[in-house]
Amino acid sequence: MTLLDGKATADAIKEEIAIIVSDIINRGGKRPHLAAILVGEDGASKTYVAHKESSCQKVGFDSTVLRLPSEITQESLLNEIEKINSNPQIDGIIVQLPLPKHIDEQKVIEAIDPAKDVDGFHPVNVGKMVSGLPSFVSATPAGIIELLKRYNIETSGKHCVIIGRSNIVGRPMANLLSQKSNPGDCTVTVCHSRTRDIKKHTLEADIIVAALGMPGFLKGDMVKDGAVVIDVGITRVEADTKSGFRLIGDVDFNEVAPKCSFITPVPGGVGPMTIISLLKNTLKASGN
Ligand code: GUN
Repeated sequence: MTLLDGKATADAIKEEIAIIVSDIINRGGKRPHLAAILVGEDGASKTYVAHKESSCQKVGFDSTVLRLPSEITQESLLNEIEKINSNPQIDGIIVQLPLPKHIDEQKVIEAIDPAKDVDGFHPVNVGKMVSGLPSFVSATPAGIIELLKRYNIETSGKHCVIIGRSNIVGRPMANLLSQKSNPGDCTVTVCHSRTRDIKKHTLEADIIVAALGMPGFLKGDMVKDGAVVIDVGITRVEADTKSGFRLIGDVDFNEVAPKCSFITPVPGGVGPMTIISLLKNTLKASGN
């Protein structure tokens, strides 16, 4: 079994991006600039935005975090997005999700200029991605593709089972892995909460992407020998640690890992790769 070390891979890619940024600066160019909007006080969202901000600093990007109160009206939030859309200094925009219940997330996503939509959530980017056209691809699926590529994992002709059908992970992942590309060329099955007998499907999978948000869902008896297992789960559970919590994946690692050819750990697997995709998208949005 080989551990897919997302942390080490992400650190290596950050060094590559930092070199590209110094080249841009040496040629008299402008630093790529990411703006993140954080609404409210959700602990997980604050941590994710802090990681995005520090990753920007590490590679030499400028970053701005706009912190807004949870009571902000939808109209005011849309106004803030419009200001960033028209600010030529800023290349990429993300609005950290989830948003408070009184705000329509889809309206917010659609307010972002598709050319600055480095999360790849705008329907224009989703449509382009599904059509196989150049686009911003959402960060988690793009990070998983990059990890498969860096570890030279053969995907062509393989049966991939994705558990979860979210717009952020499951559905774009299914699209990317079924495209005529490398990584890609998979036969893809998408399982979800209404799927009957998920185990029947996962037992046939060469590659499993678990993205349903249920800690320890995928057990050893659901996986065939030699499978590649990608764990997207990051459920926070209270623990006696410095931060007061621990991240638990959707895969029961102790049971599943011995059966795998490759598996991602949690933490240190998919998570760090997600930020890499955001950095790469921001670089692309800046015209580099
Ligand atoms: N919330 C959970 N994942 C994401 C993500 O990739 N981008 C944003 N903006 N919010 C998220």
